[in-house]
Amino acid sequence: MENLMEFLKTRRTYRRFEQKEIPGEVVEEILTAARFASSAANRQPLSYIVIREPKAVSDVFAHTKWAGALPPELGQPKENERPVLFIAVIENLDINKECDTDAGLAISNMTLAAWNRGVGSCMIGACNKPALSEMFGLTEHQKLHTVVAFGYPSHESHIVDMESSEQFKYYLDEKKDYVVPKRKLEDVVRYYP
Ligand SMILES: Cc1cc2nc3c(=O)[nH]c(=O)nc-3n(C[C@H](O)[C@H](O)[C@H](O)COP(=O)(O)O)c2cc1C
Repeated sequence: MENLMEFLKTRRTYRRFEQKEIPGEVVEEILTAARFASSAANRQPLSYIVIREPKAVSDVFAHTKWAGALPPELGQPKENERPVLFIAVIENLDINKECDTDAGLAISNMTLAAWNRGVGSCMIGACNKPALSEMFGLTEHQKLHTVVAFGYPSHESHIVDMESSEQFKYYLDEKKDYVVPKRKLEDVVRYYP
């Protein structure tokens, strides 16, 4: 359990990556982890588009925004820091229109499976969904939920206690590692009765 807690603590959002390919078997493992995820009524409305060819990765990257809490020169990955893989999560509306929780669970499984192989990730909600949907050729029965970026991280990320309610913005320390304030347990938990 101690190891799992340490694993969860270090499985953070990573935004700068080595320019090193992720082996196919690791990509398959990440996708299998998504397949294993729980799903409401076991309907399994999600499917996945894998983007790993460098030109396609670059085309998808152009429609993504990174680290909204930081100025772009600090938060946006530079040319030699970009992810090497994107996985787009697609909601199939014919199966289930309300699948936000399913998607969250699948994404969580993917990022955990990736981290188990040393691969860092960043979920990108701030992507240009209309442009990406057109690029992927999605039909009106399919909706892009999000894209998740992957790569071997070239920085670290550390959790610190959030000392005040306004201090939610992550920042970079002197080594350019991410520092992520999390609300303290006593601030978010109460026992009933
Ligand atoms: C729903 C969701 C959408 C997110 N969208 C983006 C995004 O568009 N760009 C980005 O750089 N990070 C994005 N993130 C990452 C968050 O900024 C990150 O989870 C947060 O700063 C806490 O860091 P942690 O994941 O290391 O705990 C997103 C995370 C979630 C859960």
